[in-house]
Amino acid sequence: MIFRNADVVLSGDVRKLDLRVENGKIAELAEHLEGEGIDCTGLTIFPGLIDMHVHLREPGFEKKENIESGSRAAVKGGFTQVCCMPNTKPVTDNKVVVSYIKNRAREVGLCKVNPIGAITEGQEGKNLAAIGAMKAAGAVAVSEDGKSVVATNLMANAMMYAADFGLKCLCHCEDSALVDGGVVNEGYYSTLTGLKGSIRAAEDIIIAREICLAESLSLPVHICHVSTYSGVQLIREAKARGVQVTAETCPHYFTLTDAAIADFDTNTKVNPPIRAEKDRLAIIEGLKDGTLDCIVTDHAPHHEDDKNVEYALAAFGISGLETSFALSYTQLVKGGVLTLSELADKMSANPAAILNLQGGRLEVGAPADLTIVDLNKVWTIDPKDFVSKGKNTPFAGREVYGRVKYTVVDGDIKYREE
Ligand code: DOR
Ligand code: ZN
Ligand code: ZN
Repeated sequence: MIFRNADVVLSGDVRKLDLRVENGKIAELAEHLEGEGIDCTGLTIFPGLIDMHVHLREPGFEKKENIESGSRAAVKGGFTQVCCMPNTKPVTDNKVVVSYIKNRAREVGLCKVNPIGAITEGQEGKNLAAIGAMKAAGAVAVSEDGKSVVATNLMANAMMYAADFGLKCLCHCEDSALVDGGVVNEGYYSTLTGLKGSIRAAEDIIIAREICLAESLSLPVHICHVSTYSGVQLIREAKARGVQVTAETCPHYFTLTDAAIADFDTNTKVNPPIRAEKDRLAIIEGLKDGTLDCIVTDHAPHHEDDKNVEYALAAFGISGLETSFALSYTQLVKGGVLTLSELADKMSANPAAILNLQGGRLEVGAPADLTIVDLNKVWTIDPKDFVSKGKNTPFAGREVYGRVKYTVVDGDIKYREE
């Protein structure tokens, strides 16, 4: 099978090439290849996108999403591989749940699904989970996502213990005592709406703590969904002095500001909260200068019942898999911040490198995980079109560039635009 005449996004370069797939791998990349194929004139081939931070909700919250609907949303959004967070029910804190997720994902057979194990049993913050057993069953990282590990000594132990098994801790950074029930960014718009605010320090204090631990212990750490200008600065400074810290952000933090909460749309409620213009600009700068390594969705699908309530009571989270590529391409590449290759790094190569996953680059011998996109196609985001069970998006009605045409996993077309 040959994908012919596409703009192929290589590391640091985009070239007009034919790409031949054989036995699930990229067999050849050259200017003219003979044989049966698909004409990709006008289309762009990215290395299969990897989202290292999603919530698939299974087991336990299948009303919000399950592995099948989440996998469908992933391939529709161009993702060939996702990593799913452990705040399931039961919590993904043991090898049985890790194996269950992997097996179910294999049965569904759409994208690759890599489970992330919890740091503590039941995400209760008391005892470390069986990290080694989860790694043996296929967990690719550990995280307490949804909250931070409160006890700093336990977090230090987790970083050492995870490192023994070659895993990284992915840190949701939130001092919950300081958040104290805040639901939006503290600032002009929290005052205007009367919604309880949360200050940046609630996130920054734990970012700083995790950096201090990584530095003292000479171990790696990864910071989840950075939303503050000051958090970007902490990570930038830590990287400059050689701390092994990597970081991610999400499309909602570089495309929206807290002005979006003014009409009390609960689809804007997310944790950490969408912040001010100053933060949005700093996130973009952090993506540009390499402080922020990855773009993830933090895909957090919720049921209508969890969102169609007053703002203070609504669940936190945005359904992101089906909008992430187009939002990122439109904001960052059309906006002149990143090149296509740099976008591919943020959405594929860097997540693969951070988690030691296969894939991330279009090169001979790599798995044939391909995301084939029409970059010139303009479309309007409409949650009614989502295949995710979670219709909770603050982007309804937004016009974006970049439509996924094919998603190819190990050489098989798993999604094709109708
Ligand atoms: O907005 C969020 N939703 N932030 C989190 O940390 C958890 C996530 C969820 O699981 O819904
Ligand atoms: Zn989180
Ligand atoms: Zn999350």
